[in-house]
Amino acid sequence: MTPSAEAITEAARILQAGGLVGLPTETVYGLAANALDGQAVAKIYAAKGRPSFNPLIIHCHSALQASGLVEMTQEALAAADAFWPGPLTLILKRTHDCPVSELAGAGLATLAVRIPKHDVALSVLKACGVPLAAPSANKSGTLSATTPAHVAEAFGDEVGLILAAGACGVGVESTVLDLSSGEPAVVRPGAVTAEEISEVLGRSVSYDKGDPDAPRSPGQLLKHYAPSIPVRMNAIDLAPGEALLAFGSVKFMGIRGGGAAKDLPEESLRNLSEEGDLYEAAANLFAMMRQLDQPAHKAIAVMPIPEAGIGVAINDRLRRATQA
Ligand code: TXA
Ligand code: MG
Repeated sequence: MTPSAEAITEAARILQAGGLVGLPTETVYGLAANALDGQAVAKIYAAKGRPSFNPLIIHCHSALQASGLVEMTQEALAAADAFWPGPLTLILKRTHDCPVSELAGAGLATLAVRIPKHDVALSVLKACGVPLAAPSANKSGTLSATTPAHVAEAFGDEVGLILAAGACGVGVESTVLDLSSGEPAVVRPGAVTAEEISEVLGRSVSYDKGDPDAPRSPGQLLKHYAPSIPVRMNAIDLAPGEALLAFGSVKFMGIRGGGAAKDLPEESLRNLSEEGDLYEAAANLFAMMRQLDQPAHKAIAVMPIPEAGIGVAINDRLRRATQA
């Protein structure tokens, strides 16, 4: 449904009654449920096929609402002040009387919270009055949803309603910052970079890629964002049968054995950003990978993406798509 005032009221009603709603945010579409209702949250895990040890992000409409769920430390307040609403999730200790379902937090002592920067998401949060657990609206392990059509494809019959507000502006999931213990660490890169956070906190913020023996975030170790065919990164030429996900000019890219990438048929070539703009590339990433994810292709070859700014997040998603 188009997110009219009536549709938002209907979404709030479904959520209060324990149902699921597909919801736009500035990053990706979310699959939302009342975070206080364990049975509603269980429907998210079931619909996504998500392992129950992987906790969900809790969405709030204000820092005040968040402060009833997690201990907002000085650093959390500073980060919230600088980046909320926006694509930054904070991992913090649960308050001792935190009402969020244990299942939503996978039984951990910490909880992930954020305020999305999207009018529709904020309107629904205000209308229903409860915090919403909302993972990305895709089946576990597959590419995240950045359009309402992606959500409908995955969950058509399982959601009460999808609020359709076009393509998401950012295109990759929020930065996840662990402030719950010791040194602050980014455990999932996103549009808000470690450098920007470091400037606000006044101390260095590391990017933690996940220790296989002691991950700081359960999500770090999961294969994720994967199309059904292989992905090959940093491609400087193409193998026959591969589709090309380009970044910048393809003028000089060749196909082994003969031919030029620029002459590939339309269904085998997408360009994340002809101008080489990393923000445009992030916004196009998941939709274009879906378009190239066809059995006729042997693999998706992806041109090199600079490891800077939001490029770190793009490369993180691509790297995890290549994991066996
Ligand atoms: O942009 C986003 O963050 C989107 C939109 C819908 O808001 N949501 C999203 O949720 O990406 P999800 O569930 O797909 O990813 C949540 C990530 C997972 O990697 C999970 O392991 C991590 O956050 N996470 C959640 N709670 C955590 C906790 N207490 N400690 C460490 N990591 C946590
Ligand atoms: Mg996800």
